[in-house]
Amino acid sequence: MLILGIETSCDETAASVVKDGVNILSNVISSSLSRHKKFGGVVPEIATRHHAENIDKVVNGSLHKAGIGIEEIDAVAVTDGPGLVGALLTGISCAKAISYSLKKPLIAVDHLKAHVYSAIMVKNAPRFPFVGLVISGGHTRLYLVEGFNEFELLGDTVDDAIGEAYDKVSKILGLGYPGGPVIDALAKKGNPNAIKFTCKAVNGTLDFSFSGIKTAVLYYVQGQGKTKKEDICASFQEAVLKVIAENSIKALEKYKIKSFVAGGGVSANSRFREMMQREARYRDFELYFPPLDLCSDNASMVAGLGYRLFKLGAKTALDITARV
Ligand code: KG4
Ligand code: ZN
Repeated sequence: MLILGIETSCDETAASVVKDGVNILSNVISSSLSRHKKFGGVVPEIATRHHAENIDKVVNGSLHKAGIGIEEIDAVAVTDGPGLVGALLTGISCAKAISYSLKKPLIAVDHLKAHVYSAIMVKNAPRFPFVGLVISGGHTRLYLVEGFNEFELLGDTVDDAIGEAYDKVSKILGLGYPGGPVIDALAKKGNPNAIKFTCKAVNGTLDFSFSGIKTAVLYYVQGQGKTKKEDICASFQEAVLKVIAENSIKALEKYKIKSFVAGGGVSANSRFREMMQREARYRDFELYFPPLDLCSDNASMVAGLGYRLFKLGAKTALDITARV
């Protein structure tokens, strides 16, 4: 079964054709990232205009790369939220037009669940239940996943998302946007014990808070201009990743789960992968991360999860709108 996926929740205009939920025939992405850099974050209006200008090319490009005509798809899956409202509506409108004109089923897909799915687009996927973690620019969430559409929220951030914390610290250090990849790279050359930054789970729950450590980094930089950026990056990164790893382990233990699945832009982080691999060996659980090209926003994860939902009987009406 061939599903066309469309993703426009943030700054990536993306379309993909996926066969039977796992076999990626095309994965086309046009990003407006370079147009946001000078603002230090995504500007919704710029992102939306980019989607409007490029959605047609991206969808056609994905069909062309997959070597199929649009009439050959079995359904169209689209991200309906969460994300930027104008950005989401561009993809949703395009998917509705395809669904209506070709009489193909429309399937709405949750962006965060799709991030989790990106790690299990493999033949040997873990059995349910598993613990799912989304670590991205907009979200930091832990789920108990009992089915492709059965996600119980176990933990969330009470303020900034983890990716947002990386991006803000990067801005403080003058390292540009997005901050994750550059901090990941610089941290490798720094000492994680150089500075004592603290970051703890909220009141012993599975919730996260990252705004305090961001402010601590700001005060530190203002007070001690001469410390190596590599050491600040390593010390900040170690503290935030440690709390994510700790809450993830707590969730696995609390629900007696043996599989852990992570997705989202920050799941590309090399230090986090290292930490979790060590934990998985030591505690004996299975670990699933997406391939690096599926960590950030893409439409393959949307088409893939769309297929699973379709098989479960999901069918979305043409009057859906964006869930922000
Ligand atoms: O999932 P994503 O592409 O977009 C959202 O849905 O938000 O995530 C983007 C976030 C940015 O905050 C970026 O700084 C972060 O992912 N990121 C990383 C790394 N690569 C991207 N954070 C830490 N380490 C990385 N290697
Ligand atoms: Zn995302």
